[in-house]
Amino acid sequence: MKKAVSPRPKTAKKKLQHPDIREVLLTPEKIAAKVKALAAQINKDYAGKEVILVCVLKGALVFLADFMRQLTIPCVVDFVDWSSYGASTSSSGVFRILRDLEESVESRHVLIVEDIIDTGLTTHYLIKHLSGRNPASVKVVAIFDKPSRRKIEAKADYCGYEVPDEFVVGYGLDYDQKYRNLPFLGVLKPEIYAGRDTPPDKP
Ligand code: PRP
Repeated sequence: MKKAVSPRPKTAKKKLQHPDIREVLLTPEKIAAKVKALAAQINKDYAGKEVILVCVLKGALVFLADFMRQLTIPCVVDFVDWSSYGASTSSSGVFRILRDLEESVESRHVLIVEDIIDTGLTTHYLIKHLSGRNPASVKVVAIFDKPSRRKIEAKADYCGYEVPDEFVVGYGLDYDQKYRNLPFLGVLKPEIYAGRDTPPDKP
């Protein structure tokens, strides 16, 4: 009689790896659990209100896609894309708006959706910029935070995971526009960005 082959256990996990990744910091499961918890808190805090989700391109789009599907409150989505004028001027908060909002934020509850807060410059100046347009409120939700790198005051009202000062990629975060599609947050191997004139100063 043929011996029955036992099926692969349903819990068997696909090994998380990529040749350019030194270490996986946060698995897709851990990220998903935090996204769910953040959305649950926001559903509670904004009950009876409509929010406008302002996604900061491009890194935040993966988080936005997961996060907004956990929201039960009414929401609309819009996008901004900012670029700093360069390392020397970015500390003074000089940004070029590559794409501005299509929606008006006047008298509306704005929730800025970020993948990561690093130096804090983007968040700080985006809050300032949007606050000048007379919204009902402006708050920030960020799935990752690197508080050790702050150059200016910036805080997520809803914060996912604090991450160490490592070159992290995945779940929307890139190096040279790559790795955004990795389903986990991982640390890039230093040899991938070695040989550049200056070390990368990116999240
Ligand atoms: C990243 C990230 C945040 C910003 C945070 O965007 O998505 O928007 O940097 O950094 P900060 O706190 O130092 O301002 P990036 O400019 O790399 O563009 P991207 O999202 O298109 O990758």
